[in-house]
Amino acid sequence: MTMRGRGPRRGKALSQIGILRDGAILVRDGRITAVGPANKIEKLKESKRAEKVDVGGRVVLPGLVDSHTHLIHAASRAEEYELKIRGMSYEEIAKKGGGILNSVKKLRLSTSEELKSRARGLLEKFAEYGTTTVEAKSGYGLDVTSELRILSLHKELDAEQPLEIVSTFLGAHVVPAEFRGKDGGTREYLEILTKQLIPEIADNGLAEYCDVFCERGAFTLSESRRVLEAGQAHGLTPRMHAEQLSNTGATELGVELGAASCDHLEYLTPAGIRAISKSDTVAALLPGCDFHLGLKQYAAARALIEAGAIVALATDFNPGTSPTLSMPMVLSLACTQLRMTPAEAITAATVNAAHSLRRGERIGSIEVGKQADLAVFEVADYREIPYYFGVNNCWMTMKRGEIVYLRV
Ligand code: NIG
Ligand code: FE
Repeated sequence: MTMRGRGPRRGKALSQIGILRDGAILVRDGRITAVGPANKIEKLKESKRAEKVDVGGRVVLPGLVDSHTHLIHAASRAEEYELKIRGMSYEEIAKKGGGILNSVKKLRLSTSEELKSRARGLLEKFAEYGTTTVEAKSGYGLDVTSELRILSLHKELDAEQPLEIVSTFLGAHVVPAEFRGKDGGTREYLEILTKQLIPEIADNGLAEYCDVFCERGAFTLSESRRVLEAGQAHGLTPRMHAEQLSNTGATELGVELGAASCDHLEYLTPAGIRAISKSDTVAALLPGCDFHLGLKQYAAARALIEAGAIVALATDFNPGTSPTLSMPMVLSLACTQLRMTPAEAITAATVNAAHSLRRGERIGSIEVGKQADLAVFEVADYREIPYYFGVNNCWMTMKRGEIVYLRV
């Protein structure tokens, strides 16, 4: 599956996956220098000296791009999982000091070494599922030192292990406990975010993006605007958690600000669908959340595709709403719950996701000039990737031409 073609895919173009049978890929210095039928590629002069990796008739696709994760956290919230199963809602748990604040408490008690070794283990797992690029958000620190600690870990991990980490600042996840219930607490916290943290993060190159959880119980539309505009003023591109549990108008704000993506979108209105579909803002759908929380309202993927939106898919890997790092599982959910075809889902998880991370020129498809980021699945037909739900058929993962995972 080469996914060749220009730019992000909308509408019918989501189904164009550029299948090449009996293909071969020539890689040099981590980049793709030729793609085509094996008998042709093998005859090239440069191929003679190349090391051959025979994938034995398996399906090769671009490395999966996970454009939304909360990689750095200290522990699971399995105890809340059980409460949810017994009938308590995500928002009820949050109101009682659980939820995000529970993860914040745990993270602040952890050393950077502990957080890093957990994240390293997780990144190895991401690679086992065919993911080669991982966006990672801060947001479980929510004080100056802890947020800077998380973002520094993104940078260190990006340098020290093979997968590419794209860093996003999510200081506006929720108002931390110490600022709640005191007069002007939210305002005070927003001042720290906009006047202290954002400038420092930008000066030190610790993030590319600034995200906001725009939701009841988190940040209002006008608070979200303040944070995102402050980020923009310092060169951080906006992304948003939008319309996850209710409709707030976050998507229209994201579109107005030229956000790279608006994510979740379960409660997007028809007007919101029109707005994002006419824009270059990517609509990133995260069906793992609805599945894990047992919610019935999945995002309107079909309406978004028909309206021409650039639809992407991501895991939203996090301990509260989506504890999966498996993009293949997300593909399965996209097919059965969002009614996306396997071809559309894989496009959304590669080309369009790469575009949402502003890396569309470098990753997301198997084309000359692009990075040799590949996932090889042990299936007879690409549709079997989502078809075998909950089963990992990834056989090999390659990042910049290096094998970073091979099933034994
Ligand atoms: O994407 N919505 C906000 N952030 C996460 C959940 C975080 C948590 O519950 O820990 C999300 O769903
Ligand atoms: Fe999220």
